[in-house]
Amino acid sequence: MYVQGKVILITGGAKRVGAAICRKLHAQGARLVVHYRSSMNEASALQHELNQKRPDSVAMVQADLLDTELLPDLIEKAAKRFGRLDALINNASSFFPTPLNQCTLEGWDDLVGSNLKAPLFLSQAAAPYLKQQHGCVVNIVDIHTERPLKNYVIYNAAKGGLLALTRSLAVEMAPEVRVNGVSPGPILWPEEGKWTDEAVRRHTISGTLLKRCGEPDDIAKTVQFLVADAPYITGQIIAVDGGRSIHL
Ligand SMILES: NC(=O)c1ccc[n+]([C@@H]2O[C@H](COP(=O)([O-])OP(=O)(O)OC[C@H]3O[C@@H](n4cnc5c(N)ncnc54)[C@H](OP(=O)(O)O)[C@@H]3O)[C@@H](O)[C@H]2O)c1
Repeated sequence: MYVQGKVILITGGAKRVGAAICRKLHAQGARLVVHYRSSMNEASALQHELNQKRPDSVAMVQADLLDTELLPDLIEKAAKRFGRLDALINNASSFFPTPLNQCTLEGWDDLVGSNLKAPLFLSQAAAPYLKQQHGCVVNIVDIHTERPLKNYVIYNAAKGGLLALTRSLAVEMAPEVRVNGVSPGPILWPEEGKWTDEAVRRHTISGTLLKRCGEPDDIAKTVQFLVADAPYITGQIIAVDGGRSIHL
């Protein structure tokens, strides 16, 4: 298996972990459709950077993934841009606390919409294209599907649903399409919330066996492995977490 010439759609690919996945897959020869919602400047800069390395190898597509009825159109645009679609990486995610007494329908729609509903309906729309290419789906999950993160009731449930969805889609899309997940541990601190506190960061890192944060590239390498070098792996979730999930 290889990545050279494949066309890969990465949701939320403009920055942070998504951009690392884009850079890794592009460096291996993939053509990319980088999805973004509001990070247009970052997406444009990434497109420019990568197209300078290989002209016309990266396209961009904008969408709010909460607009479920527009998701088939997003897939159509991505597949038409380079005439095929080999892989879908469901990376986009909203993340904010919802303690039980602060759970609202709005929070549910946002967290479940981006982390669970969109990956399902994007995969559904992409299935015919992926089947044609014997392609794959990679869902970016979270180690807190197994052991919940306190005060993140809806996020935990949404990512838990994504884990179950990964396995269901593996069953539904076989034998042509493989579906797997990558569960990051602490990789990049959220830009808001309790992780801006140095003591919370230290405590989180102390919970990993390797006593350090991972790098976005650790996630990117695992995605690349699942896309390009794992022809007999489907329905699996790989934790990339410095051992934190067995030590929570
Ligand atoms: N960072 C970590 O340490 C860590 C730990 C565990 C799990 N993860 C998982 O790894 C993945 C990447 O993590 P990250 O920290 O890089 O993610 P992130 O920065 O929090 O979010 C990635 C992108 O998701 C997009 N997004 C959010 N809501 C959206 C919506 N409604 N429609 C379309 N796009 C939407 C945003 O795009 P725009 O900026 O364009 O609006 C954002 O840039 C996520 O699935 C996350 O849950 C990360």
